[in-house]
Amino acid sequence: MSHLPSFFDRVRLGRHTLSNRFMVAPMTRVSATAAGVPTSQMANYYEAFAKGGFAAIITEGLYTDSIASVCNPNQPGLVTRAQVKGWQSVIRRVKQHPTVFVAQLMHAGALSQVLRQTLAPSAILPVGKPSASSGGFNAFRMPKAMTQEDIQTAIDGYVRAARHAVEAGFDGVEIHGANGYLPDQFITPYTNQRTDHYGGSVANRFRFTAEIMAAVRAAVPTGFLVGLRLSEGKVNNLSYRWEEGSDMAKALFSEVRKAAPDYLHIAAEGGGWERECQYADGSSSTGIARQLLDCPVIANGGLHNPDLATRLLNTGQADLLAIGRYAIANPDFPQKVAHGVALLPFQPGMIKPSVSLANTRRYFLSRSVS
Ligand SMILES: Cc1cc2nc3c(=O)[nH]c(=O)nc-3n(C[C@H](O)[C@H](O)[C@H](O)COP(=O)(O)O)c2cc1C
Repeated sequence: MSHLPSFFDRVRLGRHTLSNRFMVAPMTRVSATAAGVPTSQMANYYEAFAKGGFAAIITEGLYTDSIASVCNPNQPGLVTRAQVKGWQSVIRRVKQHPTVFVAQLMHAGALSQVLRQTLAPSAILPVGKPSASSGGFNAFRMPKAMTQEDIQTAIDGYVRAARHAVEAGFDGVEIHGANGYLPDQFITPYTNQRTDHYGGSVANRFRFTAEIMAAVRAAVPTGFLVGLRLSEGKVNNLSYRWEEGSDMAKALFSEVRKAAPDYLHIAAEGGGWERECQYADGSSSTGIARQLLDCPVIANGGLHNPDLATRLLNTGQADLLAIGRYAIANPDFPQKVAHGVALLPFQPGMIKPSVSLANTRRYFLSRSVS
C-alpha cells in the first residue's frame, strides 16, 4: 500500500529532520525598538510558536543594512551589535524547543517607507500605496536606479546580515525574493528596465538574487540553511501575475535550480495558494518547483484549510506548509491539528502593530525624515 503524506511525517530540511510539515510564515510585526533591536515581547511571541509545535519558524523580514534596506519603523534588523545580542536572547528562548529557526533577510528597495532616498533596479515610481498601519510615509518615493556599486553594497549587506545570523544562533537564512521587495523588483519586468546584464532575460533579472545566494552561501558554515522565498503578487500589487504563467515558473525555477537553495518557499499573500499558485493549464508553481528542484518546496497561502493542505501534499505540490495569519491566531496550531482541537479564527485586529507612537516619532527624528 502506498503511503500518503501526512502532516506529521518527518521531513528533511537541509541537515535537519523536522517533526512535522508546519512552519510559521514570515510576518512583519513592527514590534522591535526604534533602533531595530528585538524585545522580550518578541521573544515571547516567537517562543509561543516553538512551544506550540511548529517544526520551523521563519522570522519577520529583517533589514540587512541601514543604508537603503529598511522598510518600516520598528522593523528589526541584523546589522548592529545590539540587534545581534537582541536576537541571541530571542533564540535562547526558541531553542528550548526542537524548532528550526530561520532569519528572513529583507531589502525593501523602492518600497521603503522610511528612507528619503530609496534604491531600485530602475527609477520607476512603485505602484500602489504603503500600508497605512505600518507607520511610515503615506506615499512611495521615486527610487534611484542602482549602480553596480549600489548592487555590490546591497549584496555585502546580505552577507554581513547572514554572518550575524550565524553568530546569533539561527539555523539559517531565507532570502526574501518575494512580495515586491528588492530582489523581486529585479525579477519583475515592469520594475526592471535595465539594459545591462541585470535586465532583459529571466536569467539576467534573476542575476541579483543568484549573486546574493552565492555570496551568502560562501559566507556561512556548511549545513547552515540558505532558503529563498519568491512570489508573483506584491504587497503593493497583490493581484500581479506572471504574464507567461507556468512558462515563467519553469524559466525562473530553472535559474533557481542553479542557485541551489536549501528550500524554495513560494508565497501567496494575494488570495492564497489556490488563486495565486495555480495556472489555467492545471499546473501550479509549487508543483512545477517540486518537479524542477531537488530541494523541499514550501507552499503558503490559506493552508490552515486542512482539505487544501492535504490536497497539496497528496498531489505532490508541496513538502512543507507555511502558516501565516492562523499561526498568529493559534500559536499552538500544530498541536491543535494533532489533537483535533478547533482553530481560533484569525481576526484582522490581531495584527495591529504594537509600536508606541513615541518610538516611531523618535525613529523619524533620528533620521530627520519629514
Ligand atoms: C502581518 C503580516 C506581515 C507579513 N510580513 C511578511 C514578511 O515580513 N515577510 C514575508 O515574506 N511575508 C510577510 N507576510 C506574508 C505572509 O508570510 C504570508 O505569505 C501571508 O500571510 C499568506 O499566508 P496565510 O494565508 O497563511 O496568512 C506577512 C503577512 C502578514 C499577515
